[in-house]
Amino acid sequence: MPAIAIIGGQWGDEGKGKIVDFLAEKASMVVRYSGGNNAGHTVINQYGQFGLHLIPSGIFNPGVTCVIGNGVVVDPAVLIKELDLLHGRGVDTSHLVVSNRAHLIMPYHILLDGLEEEAKGRAALGTTKMGVGPAFVDKMARLGIRVGDLLDKAAFRSRLSHVLPHKNALITLVHGKPAVSLEEIFDAYCKYGERLAPHIADTDVLLEKTLGSGKLVLLEGAQGTLLDIDFGTYPYVTSGSAVVGGACTGFGISPRRIQHIIAVFKCYPTRVGGGPMPTEIKDDIGSLIRERGHEYGTTTGRARRCGWFDAVAARYTVRVNGLTDAAITRLDIFDTLETIKISTAYTVDGKRLENFPASIDVLQRCQPVYEELPGWRTPTHDIRRFEDLPPPAQAYVRRIEQLIACPVSLASVGPRREQTIWLNAIV
Ligand code: IMP
Repeated sequence: MPAIAIIGGQWGDEGKGKIVDFLAEKASMVVRYSGGNNAGHTVINQYGQFGLHLIPSGIFNPGVTCVIGNGVVVDPAVLIKELDLLHGRGVDTSHLVVSNRAHLIMPYHILLDGLEEEAKGRAALGTTKMGVGPAFVDKMARLGIRVGDLLDKAAFRSRLSHVLPHKNALITLVHGKPAVSLEEIFDAYCKYGERLAPHIADTDVLLEKTLGSGKLVLLEGAQGTLLDIDFGTYPYVTSGSAVVGGACTGFGISPRRIQHIIAVFKCYPTRVGGGPMPTEIKDDIGSLIRERGHEYGTTTGRARRCGWFDAVAARYTVRVNGLTDAAITRLDIFDTLETIKISTAYTVDGKRLENFPASIDVLQRCQPVYEELPGWRTPTHDIRRFEDLPPPAQAYVRRIEQLIACPVSLASVGPRREQTIWLNAIV
């Protein structure tokens, strides 16, 4: 069986973790291919509720190999904490594999993330301050240290000795802070290396074997298309590739192997941190949705900005990823609303705009053109078939499908695995 990619259709936090957890029952491999522990996936299942940051959501399914691909930047301290947490709650983690090519988040990356945000003042991006951006910078600057380097202490020491003077120059000369210590970092990271060694491997061979034996591989995106380094609302983006193309470079899978590309869209997009969001709801309905949906960051606890479904942005997501399917999550959050808006186009400087602009200066001036649909005012969380949803809820989903020109194959009416409805089963 080929691969299925599950990516974020908006600014992250769309419920990808839940959809991956649902599909993982049929998969034999689940792979994270981008981002770092800036991501937060909430999964609720028989083991309880979990906020995962690095480990793929497939970890709960025994027999599923979970891979942290080379495109992820890994904070080993966070990874070990997550392994301990899962272990402590009875979840087997022996089937986790970390690519030896994945780059490490080092203590100076976390420090620099905070210092750089501070230095930007009012222009700060609102990063998660987990060191993700600075780790990607070093990867591209050829100053990165990779997970595999931890397995050879002498080589690791030499690499660290080469890199650290550059970093300490930045910390001391640009930011006026004390230098970080090579010995402290070396000792801590050697310990992390010893602990993670059983999980570290070359993942290309593993992938070839899995695909060769006809088994299903799930590619789990992090963040969302509108936060992608190339296609997102630059510079208010993350530093990794959240689009499906990121799976090819972030795991080494050929695009020819990816049969389904599913983007997960929340029926109301959310955004944390700065940057434009044309359909942001600034009145009481926005607060109502935030409270009903518990829209506070899994990673930072920050309140998420909530908006109406933006079909202009969603059409863009469909195009840049070549989506085959969409999943619409959190329909149940709209159960009490009298009417629901969808943005079908924008107006900017007196002109109608159908396509998502590249410039945030233009996007900031865009006014949504809304269409208003009736709400359903009926609880939906116990419904398990699309045809049993209240007719206005069905009409809402079908209208989205029409506006974005992509089949909606899945809908979700609650956080639990079983609260997922197939419209067109693809596995
Ligand atoms: P960074 O990824 O920590 O550098 O943050 C850059 C931007 O991406 C900030 O606006 C963050 O709030 C946002 N961001 C990063 N990861 C996530 C995520 O998993 N969900 C939602 N927003 C995110």
